[in-house]
Amino acid sequence: MSLRHHSLQVLDVTGKLGGRFATARGDLFDLSGGALAQSLVSLPPLGDDALTAVMPSGGFESLSQREYESAVLARTFPDGGALWASSGSDAMEAALWALETFRREHEDRAPARHWVRRGGYHGNTYLMRALSTRNGAQKVAGVSVEVIDEHDPDVHYVPFEGPVRSLEATRLMATLQAALTTGRLRAFDILVLESLPTTGYVFQYGAQALGRLLHWCRANSILTILDEVAAGGYRHGRFSVLEALSEAMAAGSQDIALPDATVLAKGLTSGAFPLSAALVSEHIAAAIRRRPSKPISFTHGLTEPAARVALSVFHRQSGRVRDNAAERGVVLHDAFERLGELARHKPGSIGVMSSPTTIRLDIPAARANDLYAAMLRNGLWCYIGRTTFPVRQGAAQRAFVHICPPFDLEQQSVELALATFVRSARETLS
Ligand SMILES: Cc1ncc(COP(=O)(O)O)c(C=O)c1O
Repeated sequence: MSLRHHSLQVLDVTGKLGGRFATARGDLFDLSGGALAQSLVSLPPLGDDALTAVMPSGGFESLSQREYESAVLARTFPDGGALWASSGSDAMEAALWALETFRREHEDRAPARHWVRRGGYHGNTYLMRALSTRNGAQKVAGVSVEVIDEHDPDVHYVPFEGPVRSLEATRLMATLQAALTTGRLRAFDILVLESLPTTGYVFQYGAQALGRLLHWCRANSILTILDEVAAGGYRHGRFSVLEALSEAMAAGSQDIALPDATVLAKGLTSGAFPLSAALVSEHIAAAIRRRPSKPISFTHGLTEPAARVALSVFHRQSGRVRDNAAERGVVLHDAFERLGELARHKPGSIGVMSSPTTIRLDIPAARANDLYAAMLRNGLWCYIGRTTFPVRQGAAQRAFVHICPPFDLEQQSVELALATFVRSARETLS
């Protein structure tokens, strides 16, 4: 199995045990493994390989995957070809279809106009490619997309630094408000947001700020989809951000609403099965039921074995997250503080943010390979995503380092791995 997120360095991985990848250069602690791969040991049997080394889609390539691709291609396109398969992207498309069904009851102007955040990623299928702006906007004929810039492209890129649990979605809100005033944003347009973005300028809004944004959209008949493909299933300490929104509503917040749809994927099965789900609110579901043709139904999505794996992961992750939340919080907060010191020494260059389970370090892309190499030397691995932001003089190339330690390891080993990460970051970034 190869780790190929970092195009320059391919790592061959022979297995995974206790949160560590086994590689020819020694064990590597998977600092990004939380909610994705650490709990597979207790899943119903899937086969030895899958039990030790399953990870979600893109970054991993295994012998079994390659073997399957060539076996299937041999029966279909024997001269070569390629096999693509996706899961989160498909559910995002299903959610868009559901909203479109509702939209058409009220407004049959076509096509829908989609609003997305600059730097977001929503998948790699035909439509999702148009909505993903991580590597700049990709135009797809017939799909209308408006990109919202939360950093000001007229000023130098300034990475965020500091705790952001209650950060207001100020710039996002101001952009939408201005667009509504000028008539650019119209009723029944569709706004697509990640609940807790893995990419993009702002990592996390407070649930209240997100809820208020959704409330404002509801009041103005703007349809909303939360993409929780990467963030959901406990990646940030909750199954879904909708839980936080519902709690705030139950506590009496009047100006908070749920989205029209939310989409979950990777964390549903801890990365083991390519299962995804589009969840739509009751008024959207009712519009689907009102269609004269049969309501939506898929024949091979949530199969019985998939449901069992998903249920098993759901209960196990819920327990893990609850059981050591306080202890994990302290350990993560300590690393966050120390990375904050590094960021304050490099104002304008390094940013650091956190959620209850994850720290995101925002660094110049040019420094990412050095940091990654130092991590490998120090026995660590993590996921690093890259995003390009336009600025007045060209583009800011940023790398986002995602630290989400496994939930089911002893806190001592997590503490040590985080301390080693902070040291690697100091070595290469200060
Ligand atoms: C936020 C987000 N949305 C959608 C997707 C697409 O998921 P998939 O690759 O399973 O189709 C991803 C995948 O990384 C993602 O991170």
